[in-house]
Amino acid sequence: MAVNPVLETIANRRSIRRYTGRPVSRQDLETLVRAGMAAPSSRDTRHWYFIVIDDESILNGLVEGLPYAKMILTAKHAIVVASDMDQAHGGTDVDYWVQDCSAAVQNILLAAQSLGLGACWTAAHPRPERVAFVKQALGMPDKVIPLAVIAVGCPTGEDKPRDKFDPARLFWNKWQ
Ligand SMILES: Cc1cc2nc3c(=O)[nH]c(=O)nc-3n(C[C@H](O)[C@H](O)[C@H](O)COP(=O)(O)O)c2cc1C
Repeated sequence: MAVNPVLETIANRRSIRRYTGRPVSRQDLETLVRAGMAAPSSRDTRHWYFIVIDDESILNGLVEGLPYAKMILTAKHAIVVASDMDQAHGGTDVDYWVQDCSAAVQNILLAAQSLGLGACWTAAHPRPERVAFVKQALGMPDKVIPLAVIAVGCPTGEDKPRDKFDPARLFWNKWQ
């Protein structure tokens, strides 16, 4: 599929769960957040917040309440993508905030791949117990909901890209 650098990045992205533990610079972490903020959002509301965590004790506390995010311990960094319900179009009554923040998460995953970093999307929303735990661990206000906690770090190279194209799932013009 890869015919240009963007498509190559998309094709080679994987969820990375094995990390070397080497630190990522704050400059690179900010680049990832800039990629997140470049995502589309409903009515261009840009209601998101990004909490970048590189403090080991905070990461350790966070992982205690996220059973499927243990890779964060070796990744050494996490980016929490959250939405301000007072600013999101429709608030919690419609799901646009989920799509908006998901687009931001995907931008971050691709930006990480493009920088030679590894990342893995781990879910907070829609699991109420995880949302509550992340909010409490990071001191987030009531009106803000965390969608995802993204592990970010330096990949060992063991998690290899796969070709996931499935022609049986492609229809032209109508359901076939
Ligand atoms: C909404 C969503 C939630 C996810 N939550 C987790 C998670 O909690 N823990 C985890 O290890 N991976 C999580 N993943 C990553 C998926 O397991 C991964 O994308 C899938 O296995 C496909 O692998 P790939 O990303 O390498 O293509 C999540 C992905 C999405 C889109």
